[in-house]
Amino acid sequence: MITTTSSWKKLVALGKDAQQSTLSGLFLGDAQRAVKNTLHLNLGSGSIIADFSKQNITPEVVDALLELAQEASVSSRRDAMFAGAPINTSEGQPALHVALRAPSTQKIVVDGIDVVKEVHEVRRSMADFATGVRNRKIVGATGKPFTHIINVGIGGSDLGPALVWNALSQTLKPSLQCTFVSNIDPVEVEKVLEGHDAQCTLIVMCSKTFSTTETLSNSRIIQRWLTASVGEAGVAQHCAVVSVEPQRAAAAGIAFAHSFNIWPWVGGRYSVSSAVNLANVVAFGSEAFDDFLSGMRQVDEHFVETPLAKNIPVMMGLISVWNRSILGRETQAVVPYSTALSLFAPYLQQLIMESNGKQVRSDNAAVATQTSPVVWGGIGTNSQHAFMQMLHQGTSVVPVDLIGFAKTQAANGVAHDSLIANMFAQAQALAFGAESNEPQRAMPGNRASTMLMASELSAQTLGALIALYEHSVFVQGCVWGINSFDQWGVELGKQLAQKISQQIAQGAPSSDQDASTSQLLQWYLKHQ
Ligand code: F6P
Repeated sequence: MITTTSSWKKLVALGKDAQQSTLSGLFLGDAQRAVKNTLHLNLGSGSIIADFSKQNITPEVVDALLELAQEASVSSRRDAMFAGAPINTSEGQPALHVALRAPSTQKIVVDGIDVVKEVHEVRRSMADFATGVRNRKIVGATGKPFTHIINVGIGGSDLGPALVWNALSQTLKPSLQCTFVSNIDPVEVEKVLEGHDAQCTLIVMCSKTFSTTETLSNSRIIQRWLTASVGEAGVAQHCAVVSVEPQRAAAAGIAFAHSFNIWPWVGGRYSVSSAVNLANVVAFGSEAFDDFLSGMRQVDEHFVETPLAKNIPVMMGLISVWNRSILGRETQAVVPYSTALSLFAPYLQQLIMESNGKQVRSDNAAVATQTSPVVWGGIGTNSQHAFMQMLHQGTSVVPVDLIGFAKTQAANGVAHDSLIANMFAQAQALAFGAESNEPQRAMPGNRASTMLMASELSAQTLGALIALYEHSVFVQGCVWGINSFDQWGVELGKQLAQKISQQIAQGAPSSDQDASTSQLLQWYLKHQ
């Protein structure tokens, strides 16, 4: 039990001391504080800097956190993950997203099969397909080239590719335009289809399981829409399936001519480095995907090779544990100063909360501490005119990750300095506050933030940023002793929704429905 270890006890005592100290005092007491608490990662054609100096940490806290990492066996668990051990114990699976960006020279064997070899085969077929579509050798059923892609998927089969599209479409000048359909709300798919010409549209249907109701429903609606334009026989030519189970798509009556494999050991929220990113590979070309994966791979190498004290994802993870479990911070905000990263907070919500929102450990015992924070956020500077007020003067303390870039993606970047000045100013105001004779104007300060900065927002740095958070989540899961790779909490809602759907179709609630749901269902049936 992690809470009985000596490092945990030290941290609890240090947490009490932390209530007496201030960030202003800590900076005054050590002129080297910023330098000492900043870590660097060189990516070859870019770099990342992680400044933890505005977290409420002292050298003693850092030492105790590093001791905690040892006591939680972070290094050996990490090695087990990279070696393909079945660390997702409730599903008897490895969690091998790192194999998706491993070099072709590496071998990771699962059940006697070298999975890296298979990964590179799929990457080659994705690249061939992308080239075919981009140079108009692969065209629609009426002979027209594809100009648009609609990605159909939800959760990890949507958030990852949508994030990448939004982040990179300003700079990489895509050859095709991508749009994303995820929700089962028919308004969403209807609106997207209205803006598309079926004859020029490629549909990428992503679903690890191909049993997800939302994706099945949207795929069927879109296939009917295609049929009306290109005829039943032409539909398959417009459709690609990305799945562990493409035969399930076929069994569900979904027509497709192109299919790309993923594997059971790729978690949905860890699938952005797999064929789930197909839409972007086609839109931007496979070199951009190679760059993206190279950023992730370099973080993987950093995570494996760098001593814990200099290891960015290790420190991110340990500081998150400090904030959540020791200081009791219930939420964590993420604020990129980049409109291109407006989907980063929703992406991290799934990554962090679906991974670590658990109250039972992988050995089935109840956790003895708080686990995942509520993750939320928005982009700067918009957030300064929305929720930052509460972060500065509210009664809850919310640690913030601020993310910025040295270079802008804009052709005319005069306002970029102002954007970054605002990000620095927010971190300063949160940390150091301001006194005032008028209590309502006083800013308490002493509010923690981490500053993550990259040289620019490129495919490579985006991949690196995502991988940093993936491994930070892993470190937190190790400390809490939970399985970060299953998501049983999502299942009950799916089953109940199916049952309720049947009752709506039958026009009446079943007699075993609870009184509230029964009443709501009847009201809905009457008013629809
Ligand atoms: O929300 C639960 C979940 O299982 C996620 O983990 C996953 O990313 C999403 O549903 C979609 O699943 P699939 O890719 O199988 O359609």
